[in-house]
Amino acid sequence: MADTYDLVVIGSGPGGYVCAIRAAQLGMKVACVEKRATLGGTCLNIGCIPSKALLQASEKFEEANHHLGTFGVKVGKVELDLKGMMGHKDKVVGDNVNGVAFLFKKNKIDWVKGAARVAGAGKVDVALNGGGSQTLTTKNIVIATGSDVMPLPGVVVDEQRIVSSTGALALPEVPKSMIVIGGGYIGLEVGSVWQRLGTKVTVVEFLDRILPGMDGEVSKQMQRILGKQGMAFKLGTKVTGAKPTNKGVDVTLEPAKGGAAETMTVDIVLLSIGRKPFVDGLGLKEAGVALDERGRVKTDAHFATNVQGIYAIGDVIAGPMLAHKAEDEGVAVAEILAGQAGHVNYDAIPGVVYTWPEAASVGKTEEQLKQEGVEYRAGKFPFTANGRARAMASTDGFVKVLADKKTDRVLGVHIIGPEAGTMIAELALAMEFGASAEDIARTCHAHPTLNEAVKEAALAVDGRPIHI
Ligand code: FAD
Ligand code: NAI
Repeated sequence: MADTYDLVVIGSGPGGYVCAIRAAQLGMKVACVEKRATLGGTCLNIGCIPSKALLQASEKFEEANHHLGTFGVKVGKVELDLKGMMGHKDKVVGDNVNGVAFLFKKNKIDWVKGAARVAGAGKVDVALNGGGSQTLTTKNIVIATGSDVMPLPGVVVDEQRIVSSTGALALPEVPKSMIVIGGGYIGLEVGSVWQRLGTKVTVVEFLDRILPGMDGEVSKQMQRILGKQGMAFKLGTKVTGAKPTNKGVDVTLEPAKGGAAETMTVDIVLLSIGRKPFVDGLGLKEAGVALDERGRVKTDAHFATNVQGIYAIGDVIAGPMLAHKAEDEGVAVAEILAGQAGHVNYDAIPGVVYTWPEAASVGKTEEQLKQEGVEYRAGKFPFTANGRARAMASTDGFVKVLADKKTDRVLGVHIIGPEAGTMIAELALAMEFGASAEDIARTCHAHPTLNEAVKEAALAVDGRPIHI
């Protein structure tokens, strides 16, 4: 009897653990199977949390080294204690994963430690980490097994010199040089960490722009700012091979459109060209669960797979591979299973790149609106004209509000600037409520705050910003 559940969740990342907690809140008897030694998935163990701990720490180092003088603060010789910095990261990860274990206990969720295999609807076999196996019977199964590093032929990750984000977040010393393959979220964030600590970072990007999913103006500005910080970019370039030697790693590069190859020798290569859904060992084929053309678990609008009683959420299904998207899907599917109307609004999911300055976006980009033939008005406001940004000596960037030409409804907002990731919450909320640019423009914003730039950009949609 003890092994019978209302819900078995496979994977304890932000999708899985949040789903388990919400289901328990709704009165279900829940087990969560996790094969990793700690809870929290990619995000807490090797993703969002450790990367943000190192971004924060390396920002402090950069600040002490180069920026405190601006504020009239004199510091003596600044030294890096990389072990101490990694210790901070490990502590933050530890506190977070232990926090999830506490929440599981609080909500009476059984954590089954092992690798799960779907043995059919209502049945999950677990190869226990401690040896032996256990079969769980359940009314419903939620697959939340996340994603893994996208491989690149000719570039074999050894997590020593050719690393994925996992190895790059745990390097034992500061490399002199690094090639980052892929100018996306991981490349720019993790590249920034090492660049601040003294590494010469070169980003090699296949397309002719970095951050291809973001608004074009934001990408352009981001490249300019990171370039000023010392990051080098090779756009429209592909890596055809990376060979470790006794001097470093020899990396061969070619123009993406074809042409003469060149070789660069660097200490470390970071492979960050995207992530792929992770379904290895789950037995989905045998269980008859359909995948889509990109290997993701195929689901309908209610997260149901083609097999009754089996659902999927998070990185393993379609949509942006973001922790908060996985969390919201976890809540929604638990509520659906409880007979409620769980729902995720995919039009208002913010995306944030935690570089300095940050880039944040919600809704449609200008390129998307043009492509879809939507008539819109754009309002833009630079941080150079924002009092708080001046006080922070951080005036790079802007806020751009895109609103429907006829209805004035906000269709997208794109920010590059200090704390853009925190500022975007206001806009996600505005979009959830179907706000117009005028609604934002008429909302009282505290002075002096960075968010006043949002209000001004909203005023600029109607051509009436005050401070520019
Ligand atoms: P995951 O977090 O990947 O969790 C899946 C879990 O399932 C894993 O713990 C795995 O061990 C387990 N599992 C898999 N198969 C089995 C099995 N058969 N049996 C038992 N357990 C199994 N997103 C953001 O929103 N913000 C960020 O700042 C951010 N930073 C990131 C930084 C890095 C370096 C990386 C790599 C990713 C980052 N992400 C970020 C993305 C984010 O981590 C993912 O979107 C998120 O973790 C997806 O959650 P998930 O629950 O779907 O899967
Ligand atoms: P990404 O999709 O963000 O970026 C990959 C980049 O690599 C793209 O610019 C792409 O054009 C480029 N690329 C693809 N193939 C290439 C090749 N062969 N050679 C050179 N460039 C190539 O993927 P990334 O950075 O690996 O991150 C994976 C995912 O993890 C992200 O998409 C995001 O969903 C999530 N993530 C989110 C973070 C956040 O929310 N702040 C931080 C880190 C990761």
